[in-house]
Amino acid sequence: MKNKIIIANWKMNYNFYETTNFLRNLLKFFNHDKKIHNNKKIIIAPSYPFLHISNQIVQGTNIHIASQNMFHIEKGSYTGEISAIMLKSIGIQNVILGHSERRIYFNETNKTLLQKIHISLKNRLKIIFCIGETLNEKNNNQQFISIQKQLEETIFLCSIKEIENLIIAYEPIWAIGTGQFPIPNEVQKMHNHIRLLFQNKYGKFVSDKIHILYGGSINEFNCKDFFQQKDVDGGLVGNSSLEIDKFLSIIKAS
Ligand code: PGA
Repeated sequence: MKNKIIIANWKMNYNFYETTNFLRNLLKFFNHDKKIHNNKKIIIAPSYPFLHISNQIVQGTNIHIASQNMFHIEKGSYTGEISAIMLKSIGIQNVILGHSERRIYFNETNKTLLQKIHISLKNRLKIIFCIGETLNEKNNNQQFISIQKQLEETIFLCSIKEIENLIIAYEPIWAIGTGQFPIPNEVQKMHNHIRLLFQNKYGKFVSDKIHILYGGSINEFNCKDFFQQKDVDGGLVGNSSLEIDKFLSIIKAS
């Protein structure tokens, strides 16, 4: 059994005080009860302006900080964008790429995502890569094909060495922020499918090792059912990561 990874994606929610208070409180809980987070990796993704302070707060703990995004070019006249080099310069080690909200609201395509992947790898950022099917694809039983295509046009164009530290987050688009979620058995089927795709491409050693997380309306009640599935190695949590009690329950259940 692999150690579980729990990621909090705070999206565009917390300001400076909320971010820093949350992290300090989380550390207090962790110091108080080491069992909560033993053998687990916790990654928090605050907004850009607070990445630096967040990273300082969690130094020396087993909480890690991730950026929610980055630009697909390293440097230049791109007003308002943030590069991999900038993230590295403040000690950030992880980046979420391909979140469906980025694909939907900011027109991110597999092509730009591939550029982001290459730049992340060049700058030694660990990638948390999101994939997921639309409701329409699910209703037409196209979800397995859709996921395969998303991987073939991005991650599968990387070498075995490059995907060493990769985390995959399977997030059905229709489940994100909607309160709707697939039954755990469906999640298991998809995770198994993803693992087999990795096995076919890179071999069993890689496919056994890779972390495949589930994301989409995880809450303190349904999380355990997901985490008990054989191929679910943790969760990517949005809304329920914004309240410390709920988030702690989810960590405990993992
Ligand atoms: P949610 O978000 O938990 O609010 O559905 C998950 C995500 O966007 O990663």
